[in-house]
Amino acid sequence: MSSFQRAIVCFAREGAKREDEMHDPAASRYYVGMLRNTADSWGAPAKFFHWVMAALILAQIALGLTAASWRVSPTKIELFFWHKSTGVLILLLVALRLLWRLANPAPALPSGMPAWERAAARLSHLLLYALMIALPVTGWIVNSASNVPFRIFWLIPLPAIVAPDEPTADLVAWVHGGLAALLALVLVAHIGAALRHHFVKRNTVLERMLPGVWRTP
Ligand code: HEM
Ligand code: HEM
Repeated sequence: MSSFQRAIVCFAREGAKREDEMHDPAASRYYVGMLRNTADSWGAPAKFFHWVMAALILAQIALGLTAASWRVSPTKIELFFWHKSTGVLILLLVALRLLWRLANPAPALPSGMPAWERAAARLSHLLLYALMIALPVTGWIVNSASNVPFRIFWLIPLPAIVAPDEPTADLVAWVHGGLAALLALVLVAHIGAALRHHFVKRNTVLERMLPGVWRTP
């Protein structure tokens, strides 16, 4: 048999195996579980949203601080351009993420977790979602009130959501900075809690959010 024929046979066998698995309830639960959240793990879309947004948000905080402290120059304008574009992208992603979250109940927290810890987890996650919306919206208000024309990633013009007004721009810029500081604080607690679950309490809370780790119900 030529290597080409061997490759075809191998490919056909793989296909037949996948076909069998599709009719096996345990295996199909496994494939569905990769998409939807299960009782003990996050599905692929939830993990994708979490890690892509985590990377964007951490970069966004650094970008905002750098842009705000940069001396007035074309580089400052460019840094703000990236900051605002990434911020609008985050707003779009959080809207999609929330829709997916509403359609997919979260995995249960480990049994035996004290009530205060459950409440803290729920409250901090709620606060993180609120901040992921409030930060881009306040940034957008600052941009509108400052009357700075801006195209998202050089393409789509961002419409103004408030009338140009300097005192509004100054006040909301202050709120925007305060919310970013609050976000950084909540994130320190969030990341600390994830590491504590993994290294101290030795449960699966961190593992089940990691890419490539799947559990079947
Ligand atoms: C880089 C370090 C990070 C680690 C290690 C981490 C870890 C985790 C883990 C393990 C969970 C699952 C908790 C559970 O199963 O109950 C989670 C959930 C969550 N994380 Fe993170 N995270 C990180 C960064 C971030 C960032 C930057 C954000 C953005 C604000 C964020 C927002 C969230 C939210 C909102 C949830 C709740 C998900 C839901 O209930 O829909 N995380 N994180
Ligand atoms: C999750 C999204 C965002 C985060 C985490 C974030 C974070 C930050 C941070 C840390 C600063 C520096 C604050 C300071 O040093 O005072 C900043 C400044 C700023 N951000 Fe954002 N930002 C976000 C979204 C946006 C968006 C969508 C826009 C506009 C469309 C925007 C516009 C601005 C402006 C104009 C400033 C300068 C404010 C000033 O004049 O002090 N931001 N942002």
